[in-house]
Amino acid sequence: MTAPRERTVVVDGKALASTLRSEIQHEIARLVAAGHRPPCLAVVLVGDNPASMSYIKGKRRACERAGMTSREHDLPADATQEDVVDLVEALNRDASVDGILVQLPLPKPLDASAVIEAIDPAKDVDGLTTHNAGRLVAGLPGLRPCTPLGILAVLERHAVPIEGASAVVIGRSILVGKPISLLLLERNATVTICHSRTRDLAGVVREADILVAAAGSPRLVKGDWIRPGAAVIDLGVNIVDGVQHGDVDFDAALGVAGLLTPSRGGVGPLTITMLLRNTLEAYQTRHGLRS
Ligand code: GUN
Repeated sequence: MTAPRERTVVVDGKALASTLRSEIQHEIARLVAAGHRPPCLAVVLVGDNPASMSYIKGKRRACERAGMTSREHDLPADATQEDVVDLVEALNRDASVDGILVQLPLPKPLDASAVIEAIDPAKDVDGLTTHNAGRLVAGLPGLRPCTPLGILAVLERHAVPIEGASAVVIGRSILVGKPISLLLLERNATVTICHSRTRDLAGVVREADILVAAAGSPRLVKGDWIRPGAAVIDLGVNIVDGVQHGDVDFDAALGVAGLLTPSRGGVGPLTITMLLRNTLEAYQTRHGLRS
């Protein structure tokens, strides 16, 4: 029997993002009032991927609203590896830049790993360099990827217990699956990472108190896979016939999950918020302003 739909808390990511962004905005206003320049994020876009252009627009707007400086560096789709790395290295040297984000994916045949590796780890606000990824594995402080930080913000704001919980992550990307698994482990969850070769995915998911679906497969997770009361975080942004679907069958999950993030307006707004927070953190660390 399915429980009433209202038993599921549907996360309003926009509202939570707005609360957290106003805290960041106040901190920046305080720094500026004390005579410091505002933090600056440099975004590198290679080519004209429409999804990337739309993401970047959202990042620019969020920076401006928070009182940060946002700089965009657009390179043509046929830019060489050397062109992109030279630009990143120039931004590394530029003392007026605090954070560098290279929008992914990069057009073929560019080597994204080599470009990311060129970013100064102190300005790596995506937390993707091997330096910062290694620090996460080692349990040392460092800049962490933004979407996983957004997921933690949702879980914390809704008081979802993490310690001792069974957490199942579907997906093993460097942007989401791997880092969120490590961050949940750091908070003492028992973490299982699933992927396309996992046997009996439904059976594994049924054990989850916390489910993170980052597979990029529309409505992969069915309602009867979800443990009643589980916290279900859906990172899927899949466009099918012009309609956006998550990795979770949202309608079927209503009434079963205890907490559910929608594909639209769920974790997305928090990812940008965490980018602002990382840029502020990189700025404060570089200027010796962290308490
Ligand atoms: N493309 C989609 N999501 C992201 C992200 O979080 N960071 C970067 N650099 N590119 C992305």
